[in-house]
Amino acid sequence: MEPEWYKPYRIKMVEPIRLLPRADRERRIQEAGYNVFRLRSQDIYIDLLTDSGTGAMSQAQWAALLQGDEAYAGSRSFELLEETVREITGFEYVLPTHQGRGAENVLFSCLVDRGDVVPNNMHFDTTRAHVIHNGGEPVNLVIEEAFDPQSPHPFKGDMDVKRLEALFEEVGTERIPFVLLTITNNSGGGQPVSMRNLRAVSEVAHAHGVPLFLDAARFAENAYFIWEREPGYREKTIPEIVRETFSYADGCTISAKKDGLVNIGGLIALRDRELYERCRERLILMEGFPTYGGQAGRDLAALAQGLREVLDVQYLHDRIAQVRRLGERIRERGVPIVEPVGGHAVYVDAKRFLPHIPQREFPAQALVVELYREAGVRAVEVGSVMFARTDPKTGKTVYPKLELVRLAIPRRVYTDEHLATVAEALGAIASRREELRGYRLVEGEGPLRHFLARFEPL
Ligand code: F0G
Repeated sequence: MEPEWYKPYRIKMVEPIRLLPRADRERRIQEAGYNVFRLRSQDIYIDLLTDSGTGAMSQAQWAALLQGDEAYAGSRSFELLEETVREITGFEYVLPTHQGRGAENVLFSCLVDRGDVVPNNMHFDTTRAHVIHNGGEPVNLVIEEAFDPQSPHPFKGDMDVKRLEALFEEVGTERIPFVLLTITNNSGGGQPVSMRNLRAVSEVAHAHGVPLFLDAARFAENAYFIWEREPGYREKTIPEIVRETFSYADGCTISAKKDGLVNIGGLIALRDRELYERCRERLILMEGFPTYGGQAGRDLAALAQGLREVLDVQYLHDRIAQVRRLGERIRERGVPIVEPVGGHAVYVDAKRFLPHIPQREFPAQALVVELYREAGVRAVEVGSVMFARTDPKTGKTVYPKLELVRLAIPRRVYTDEHLATVAEALGAIASRREELRGYRLVEGEGPLRHFLARFEPL
């Protein structure tokens, strides 16, 4: 039976925001080199740059902050977090890190050697950069449907298991230190991975004696989609689905800034003691002593509370339904989006929206800039600025298949009215889309260039 849905919170504290006049927005974006990462928060009206660390904490989380134990070693807040993570994931060994990429740094530097190949459904940008940094080659093996923004496939984050098997055949087990699965698939539209696929990928990895790790930043949202869409899961609770999800893996890295419902933090959780001990050693070097790992005790306490709150099906329904409503509003205004709408964001298909701007002129970036100009809304480019790369063999630029603009929704922060403004702005841009022009990159290189790049309009 369908639960009776309701909004499971009301608002008790407000943060003022303002809409700068259009002339000021024009000036600010020009000064920022047409890169929204260079804008000041104060100059933004609705900030959909990311859902990472931008959520609102609950009263219970704020209360937990006051009870944080700031001991360098043996903090009680760590014990609380460890107990919570063990219960939720079933993994025995828990290491806190300052955020998700800290976890990637520690785990990958233990496991990835020069010449290794790391398969994933799709690497997130920092994940990919950490594989490369350790001398490895990141390979994306998501199913083909992921590249068709109109395909209604319910689990477009799934990995293509045949291609994974073929990769093992091709490069051999010795060169694949582990398999990764990103839940939900952020770079591919926030799309979920099915339990069926988790099971199948786990079987292939384990048949080759290779561990499976989850990049589990949005594990609870992924579980909600399984509950909603996968046969056999309607009768299960979210904690049961989450527990089963992790049961197929040997460990995970987590950016707690998403489904941890906190503003900073990350985690590594592992099943294997020996690997844990190696990671712990590196953690001390790179992040901090294993009972704080780069976080304050109070942060650990708020995270322990957040990890429990995120498992509430009412919360998850409210969250995912809000994102979906924004997607519907945008689609109604004739703006093409990635379908079905993912968990944490709506992704506009800039390739289809601006067919007159070629990929080398960054159509998604052009839309990001225009959205700021139009309504003070900050989105983020997930396309050629972020992912185009030079093929080392041919020297040619290889462009990504998808050219997207991500509108990421912070958790428990904006109302539907805020988001309606965003849809209206996109509708206004749609009516004069032929006037938009591309951009030229004038500064920035390497896999992380999107953060600091500067552009000039063409
Ligand atoms: N993995 C995934 C799937 C992510 O989405 C992110 C961050 C990370 C790892 C890295 O975590 O930021 O805590 O170091 N994603 C953010 C975003 C930044 O905007 O999507 P982090």
